[in-house]
Amino acid sequence: MKAVVFHEQGGIDQLCYEEVPDPIISASEILVKVCACAVNHLDIRARRDRPEVEPFPHILGSDISGEVVEVGADVRNVGVGDSVVLSPCVPCGQCADCLNGDENLCDAQILLGFQTNGGYAEYVKAPAENATLLSSHFSYYEAAAMPMAYLTAWHMLVTRAGVRPGEDVLILSAGSGVGSAGLQIAKLCGARVFATASTDGKLERARQLGADFTINYTDTDFSEIVREKTGERGVDVVFEHVGAATWDKSIACLAKKGRLVSCGVTTGNIGEIDIRKMYQKQLTLMGSALGTASELRTIIRLAEQGKLNPVIDRVLPLREAAEAHRIMEARENFGKVCLSPVDSP
Ligand SMILES: NC(=O)c1ccc[n+]([C@@H]2O[C@H](COP(=O)([O-])OP(=O)(O)OC[C@H]3O[C@@H](n4cnc5c(N)ncnc54)[C@H](OP(=O)(O)O)[C@@H]3O)[C@@H](O)[C@H]2O)c1
Ligand SMILES: [Zn+2]
Repeated sequence: MKAVVFHEQGGIDQLCYEEVPDPIISASEILVKVCACAVNHLDIRARRDRPEVEPFPHILGSDISGEVVEVGADVRNVGVGDSVVLSPCVPCGQCADCLNGDENLCDAQILLGFQTNGGYAEYVKAPAENATLLSSHFSYYEAAAMPMAYLTAWHMLVTRAGVRPGEDVLILSAGSGVGSAGLQIAKLCGARVFATASTDGKLERARQLGADFTINYTDTDFSEIVREKTGERGVDVVFEHVGAATWDKSIACLAKKGRLVSCGVTTGNIGEIDIRKMYQKQLTLMGSALGTASELRTIIRLAEQGKLNPVIDRVLPLREAAEAHRIMEARENFGKVCLSPVDSP
């Protein structure tokens, strides 16, 4: 089959479109003909330097939708011809966290496309239990856009922060994959949404998605604008994934009893906090990592009902995966960049 692989970590030029052996499935696995694979910031970090990546040569791609073309002897939940989206997390299934239904906390979990070969390919193999069936009218691109970004944003805002109707939520970098998902989910929860981005073009897109206030953080201090627009109260929830560069301002945006929920550190993983202000304002800081297979089924159902509309920035042919990485590194995307094994998607 054709796939985009890298033989060693480094720059965009390490991504090569090559002929590689077809995956061979075990009794509990399925073989999926990839119809779409979305690109994540994690792919860029994996290509550059993340030490967990294996095997080599490596095929990236954690967000995969496609058609089942082969099933192992023990597989009962899906059959050949089914349309599926794959949950990216492969948990151990046996530890206390897994048995509690918190498989995103499993210490032994691996991610498709990160610690296995993934979806930058014509075919990918995965455990059968990672497959969620798609209804026939659901596009493969929309389905592939959902697992990492929408699942993570759902877990952050609904499961962890428990956003309620009428609350004020600040979404940082609303044009990112997780940000565009967070914006939609916060609106679905009935929140009033403040959104930041680095360009006015992205802010216009954010308004089209329902953002109530938009802030270009490159020419202003977003925490000052948030405080001004909320009558100095601040927001109830800050949706963080940018990390060191925004941390101080994110905390400054929080109202009394505010919650900050974070899933990422694009700009660095060390931040400080004034402990006295934290307890006086009764702030809550929350971590959040991906989500569960059950939550993935919930958000796919919401998308099938038209209540979530995955934002696709563009679809590129698989052989142009390097260009997809360039676009995301240049921060040109609003929403998800998807790859398709078809040459003219
Ligand atoms: N823990 C989890 O389960 C999980 C799951 C998914 C994602 N994440 C994390 O969430 C973050 C976003 O992921 P994504 O896939 O949504 O990314 P993405 O689509 O590539 O978007 C990243 C955005 O961050 C903003 N940004 C701000 N400062 C930046 C800087 N110095 N360099 C680069 N970008 C900067 C940019 O938007 P502006 O230019 O508009 O600011 C950029 O478009 C990543 O850190 C990722 O690892 C974590
Ligand atoms: Zn486990």
